[in-house]
Amino acid sequence: MDFTDQRLSYEKGVLDQQSIPASPFELLKGWISDATEQQVQEPYAMSLATCGADNKPSVRIVLMREITETGVVFYTNYESAKGQDIAENPNAEVLFFWHELERQIRISGSIAKIDADKSAMYFQKRPHDSQVGAWVSQPQSGEVVNREVMEQTFDQLQTDYPENTQVPTPEFWGGYEITINEIEFWQGRANRMHDRIVYTRSTDSDNGRNNVASWNTKRLLP
Ligand SMILES: Cc1cc2nc3c(=O)[nH]c(=O)nc-3n(C[C@H](O)[C@H](O)[C@H](O)COP(=O)(O)O)c2cc1C
Repeated sequence: MDFTDQRLSYEKGVLDQQSIPASPFELLKGWISDATEQQVQEPYAMSLATCGADNKPSVRIVLMREITETGVVFYTNYESAKGQDIAENPNAEVLFFWHELERQIRISGSIAKIDADKSAMYFQKRPHDSQVGAWVSQPQSGEVVNREVMEQTFDQLQTDYPENTQVPTPEFWGGYEITINEIEFWQGRANRMHDRIVYTRSTDSDNGRNNVASWNTKRLLP
């Protein structure tokens, strides 16, 4: 297949360095809201790239579950392939792409596990079947002989923990937060003259009391 004749002109928006907010979190939330209004399905789905000690990058989709004051949170199995990568190398990138808005957001930062209590609170809020599913998929990314084995485990767990009973929160499952060090907002423009604005964190000390993040911005060539 040949796609060399396929091209679109991107003309849906502009990104002006003079009128962007001082905090990238405001812009991130604004763009997520715009994507929701445009009826993008799961605008909080993001590609997460990790790279372990083997130096081989891996990428997969995960669901952003929260925007905090410092970064974004997703939940997964700590013993999965991505969990192993993160244990070996906390540096990661995340990417959102919403074709409907001709926008991309790229986040780079370092990943750490969130508080176990917070993970447990979220786990207990999930639908019963998702809770059981987390136990079935252990270790996530491990090989399974066939689908029947998975289904038998699922059925067995449904018997052990019927609907309305509490499924214990697995120790191997929980949230990670990516603390944002750099975040790039990309808005497609006509003639490949796209807008790219990058925010880079510079942490200032607030008279020694708190660490307050301030952000530098710059425009990149498309
Ligand atoms: C739309 C979508 C949402 C997903 N959300 C998650 C998620 O929030 N957490 C997760 O662990 N896997 C999620 N997955 C599955 C991952 O993409 C991946 O297959 C799984 O986490 C195993 O990745 P790994 O082997 O690289 O660790 C999602 C997949 C898709 C397509």
